[in-house]
Amino acid sequence: MDDALKAPSRRAFLKGSAAAVAGSVAAGAAVAAEPDPLITELQDWASSLGEGVDETPYGLPIKYEDDVVRRNVPWLTADPISSINFTPIHALDGTITPQGCAFERHHSGAIELSKPDYRLMINGLVDQELVFTYADLERFPRENHVYFCECAANTGMEWAGAQLNGVQFTHGMIHNMEYTGVSLRTLLNEAGLGAAGDLKDKWVYVEGADASSNGRSIPMEKALDDVLVAFKANGEALRKEHGYPVRLVVPGWEGNMWVKWLRRIEVTDMAVESREETSKYTDVLADGIARKWTWVMDAKSVITSPSPQSPITHGPGPMVISGLAWSGHGQITRVDVSKDGGMTWETARLGRQGDTKALTRFYLDTEWDGEEMLLQARAMDETGYVQPTKAQLREVRGENSIYHNNCIQTWHVKTNGEAENVEVS
Ligand code: MTE
Ligand code: CO
Repeated sequence: MDDALKAPSRRAFLKGSAAAVAGSVAAGAAVAAEPDPLITELQDWASSLGEGVDETPYGLPIKYEDDVVRRNVPWLTADPISSINFTPIHALDGTITPQGCAFERHHSGAIELSKPDYRLMINGLVDQELVFTYADLERFPRENHVYFCECAANTGMEWAGAQLNGVQFTHGMIHNMEYTGVSLRTLLNEAGLGAAGDLKDKWVYVEGADASSNGRSIPMEKALDDVLVAFKANGEALRKEHGYPVRLVVPGWEGNMWVKWLRRIEVTDMAVESREETSKYTDVLADGIARKWTWVMDAKSVITSPSPQSPITHGPGPMVISGLAWSGHGQITRVDVSKDGGMTWETARLGRQGDTKALTRFYLDTEWDGEEMLLQARAMDETGYVQPTKAQLREVRGENSIYHNNCIQTWHVKTNGEAENVEVS
């Protein structure tokens, strides 16, 4: 059905239910048969005073939204210190993730580091080794960019089969924020890269101030490209759990490289081959050999509503299918949605032209016939890459992997509107 045909039927449906509120028409599931006291009676909130402006100097969401929170999967990690929780993406819309409900991944707990106690060292193959205070960092030119941060382990539990019944748990190791910071290039140039000689085969080794240090090697080419030393997210200071006061932002690359509580950047002539880039964050293939240096997060998408935690709560008729798409290679150019497990596809509408290496919201404004659906989304990015099916991904990667599972996700939507995580072959 094209848009021109769809629009009038949607308008007619909405007009019908609006008229019914006044008690004159009774047709369709959304119609209220009795006069609605919310319309006909004076309510408390309109006849008494609300809270004063000083009651909540820093706000939390209204109590009716108190289920829109990070959640964890208790059996996933042995303790909450070296652990993960998940963004409630089933309940969010648009693209920006509020820091208060953005997933956290700590290897040794979230540390409390004040600005006065903060130091950032640049050492190794530089002309002049430097130590910056927080105030020093604020004196360099700043940039603003929106980027997604996806843990390489996102969707990792789903390799062997459908496991977790909620998009928060299958895809919620992701957040998308507007960062303010200084480009790493600026700081490296301040230290001077003459001593490093030919920059082509050089690396930087970045580490955090927490006990795990989470050290990672980054090729110099990326370090000089779009990496940010960030101190604000969504306009405000980074929250403690996201690396206050300073974290690294490595656009499009796996979340593990986004070092929090950033304390040291060493210019080196080889990769350090730290724990986080050898025994972890590598991908064991079917023959037992591990892929390494799999930094970029390939294009991926998922339907956030309807989904197991966000069932359809209305009857047949107009409905909005919505989700998120992203690519570590750049912009999302197209997202398709299937209602029949990938046999036929419709092209979704992008909420707005997506930023590069940032979440893009998509919508399919459609009609639900009340029948079962096998809902899927499939993303394409500016390189022409198409998100693979689970079978295609397994063909290349086997089933030993945890990280970098970007396959197409399926939700089985039942006639009662509930949805379940399933796998279609
Ligand atoms: N940096 C430090 N210093 N310590 C950590 O434990 N965890 C990494 C990365 N940076 C980590 C770190 C991992 S695995 C991910 S996915 C991201 O931070 C998560 O960032 P977030 O907690 O802000 O969501
Ligand atoms: Co991670």
